[in-house]
Amino acid sequence: MTSEHRAAFLHEFLRDPFTVAAVAPSGVPLADLVTAPVPRGGDPVVVELGPGTGAFTAAVQRRLAGRGHHIAVEINERFAGLLAGRYPQVDVAVADARNLREVLAERGHRHADVIVSGLPWAAFAAGQQDDLLAAVTDTLTPDGAFTTFAYTLARWAPPARRLRRSLGTRFDEVVAGRTVWANVPPAFVYYCRRPRVPVRPPALVPA
Ligand SMILES: C[S@@+](CC[C@H](N)C(=O)[O-])C[C@H]1O[C@@H](n2cnc3c(N)ncnc32)[C@H](O)[C@@H]1O
Repeated sequence: MTSEHRAAFLHEFLRDPFTVAAVAPSGVPLADLVTAPVPRGGDPVVVELGPGTGAFTAAVQRRLAGRGHHIAVEINERFAGLLAGRYPQVDVAVADARNLREVLAERGHRHADVIVSGLPWAAFAAGQQDDLLAAVTDTLTPDGAFTTFAYTLARWAPPARRLRRSLGTRFDEVVAGRTVWANVPPAFVYYCRRPRVPVRPPALVPA
């Protein structure tokens, strides 16, 4: 991470604190943990939500080592431009993560095998959190994995508790990892598997 990227991150935080929601990019130890479900074999479709200046992007790329399709969905045009310049092998979409289904469809995919999130959940209102998680569970393969991180010291704040409850509602398995104290601020990862697909009512057949 160069000083140019750190400066860009801080600048974008001051310009739009509720979307960027962190003063500095995540560190390498957290990036290694959040990207651990990216398989080291095969050709997976890996989606990264809210990549910012690329703290997790580098770790995903290391694990993929040239395989698969790595799609990064970033709402901030400046971050997206920086990312595309730094990682030409990453498919950067300037889009709201709520539109993940459309982003994938434009690229010929229905599902993602792994979704890694850098989104600032605690900064989102309840409805926005719901829409974003629905976009994730709608597009993840049934045996896929979703990871996201949360700040340890804010773990008991209402938005963080709401996220934990929503993950439990939307996934069959949710495991919280250990705190990475070396991250600024300290953070931990949620590992989520087996998305629960909403049961749709049967179509009415005319008598
Ligand atoms: C806390 S920063 C994390 C950046 C990076 N993943 C990291 O850990 O250093 C949150 C990122 O999510 C992006 N973001 C926020 N809301 C978004 C949305 N609805 N769709 C896509 N990206 C979004 C922000 O622009 C920012 O880059």
